[in-house]
This record gives sequence, C-alpha cells and structure tokens, in this order.
Amino acid sequence: MNALTDINLIVRTGDFLAIAGSSGSGKTTLLNLLGILDRPTSGCVLIDGVDVSQLSSRELAAIRSQKIGFVFQTFNLLPVLTAFENVEYPLLLQHMTTEQRKTKVEDALQRVGIEKLGKHRPDQLSGGQRQRVAVARAIVKHPSVILADEPTANLDKKTATAVLELMHQLNREDGVTFLFSSHDPMILSLANRVVKLSDGRQVAEKAAKERHAH
Ligand SMILES: Nc1ncnc2c1ncn2[C@@H]1O[C@H](COP(=O)(O)OP(=O)(O)O)[C@@H](O)[C@H]1O
Ligand SMILES: [Mg+2]
Repeated sequence: MNALTDINLIVRTGDFLAIAGSSGSGKTTLLNLLGILDRPTSGCVLIDGVDVSQLSSRELAAIRSQKIGFVFQTFNLLPVLTAFENVEYPLLLQHMTTEQRKTKVEDALQRVGIEKLGKHRPDQLSGGQRQRVAVARAIVKHPSVILADEPTANLDKKTATAVLELMHQLNREDGVTFLFSSHDPMILSLANRVVKLSDGRQVAEKAAKERHAH
C-alpha cells in the first residue's frame, strides 16, 4: 500500500498553503517528501525546477540547507543553546563574520517579536515563545519555502492562532512562502490555499476565503 497516491501539487512563491487531513491521511509523508527528508517510490519532486531525485546526497543537503526552512510540532530547539544561539545555528557553516551573523539573528528575533528573549534557553520560554524561536531559525537564511508540520499542535488555541498570525504576517510583509499542515479547522481557515488529503489522496483544493477583500 502506498502512503500517498495521485498527488499533484505546485507550491508557488508567496503561497500560504495548508495541507489539511485527519491523522494518518499522509500530511507528514507529503511534507517529508517536499523537504527531501524522504524519497518517493514513484513520481518526482522538483524544487525550483530541479528534479531532486537526480541529485547526490551532498547536493540534497545543500538544497535542504539553502532553500528549505523547517518548523516542527515539537519545536526541536537545542536545549543547551539560548534562543539567540538556536537561531544562529543554521548560519554557522556559512562564510560570515560574527557581526554579520549577529545582525541576521537580531533581525530574525525582532521579526518574530522576541528580540528581548535572545538570552533565554528553551526551558525558560513558553510554548508559543519556543515556536517563535523556531520560526526565527527557519527564516534566518531566507529559504525559498518553510515547511511546518502541524506547527500549532502543541499550543493552546490562543497561542496557536498567534503563531499562525505571525507566519501569515511574515508571508504578507516579507513574502515568505509557507506550507503547513494541520487538522484544526480554525488554523486551516487562516490559509490562503488548502489542499486536503484523505487516505493518502488529494481530495480537493479549495481557495480559502479571501480574508482581505474589501
Ligand atoms: N515510513 C513509512 N512507511 C510506510 N508507511 C508509513 C510510513 N510513515 C507513515 N506511514 C503510513 O502512511 C500513512 C500516512 O501517515 P502520515 O503521513 O504520518 O499521516 P499524518 O501526518 O497525516 O498523520 C499512515 O497510514 C501511516 O501509517
Ligand atoms: Mg503527521
């Protein structure tokens, strides 16, 4: 049995796109394929027009690090590092001075509204603040797309909405492309496009309501 069948999805620059579907419908599998954490048994994944199945693991690692930002349900911050250091981490392998890194990290922390919390470790932060650190870590390299697998599943309703609103603000104001999954109707209502999965099949795409219509 295939985890996914008949998926035909184009993510465009500037999208704020949700993958909807109940537990077991294939959301994580799809995001793992798009994040090249996993390979399809058939079919292909193109990123900026390049078929990633043709690339070496070294080339894949480079694409993953340059073009894709990840946000996880469980935040996945490094517990011994401060918020600042967690956001700085993806930049450490780049040719950059300490001062250049500092500017980028401070910009990212400021964009997600936690510029004052840079010295805090994850265990000194709330769930919502941790996810803001994770979003800052994802945007700091200005990737082509940010993949977020159920980014609000471990947050209470109010915090979940605030994190989604932050992502939407980054999408509108900075043009950050987001692809996120959720099974929460309230979270899905914030998306500009919703692709629905059921038993590994793409059952429908509905353009979510025009939220900023006059
Ligand atoms: N590595 C895997 N190999 C085979 N089947 C898998 C694997 N991972 C998940 N599945 C199956 O694929 C289906 C979709 O799972 P998943 O993508 O985790 O769904 P969701 O994230 O929507 O809950 C499920 O039936 C699951 O049991
Ligand atoms: Mg999942």
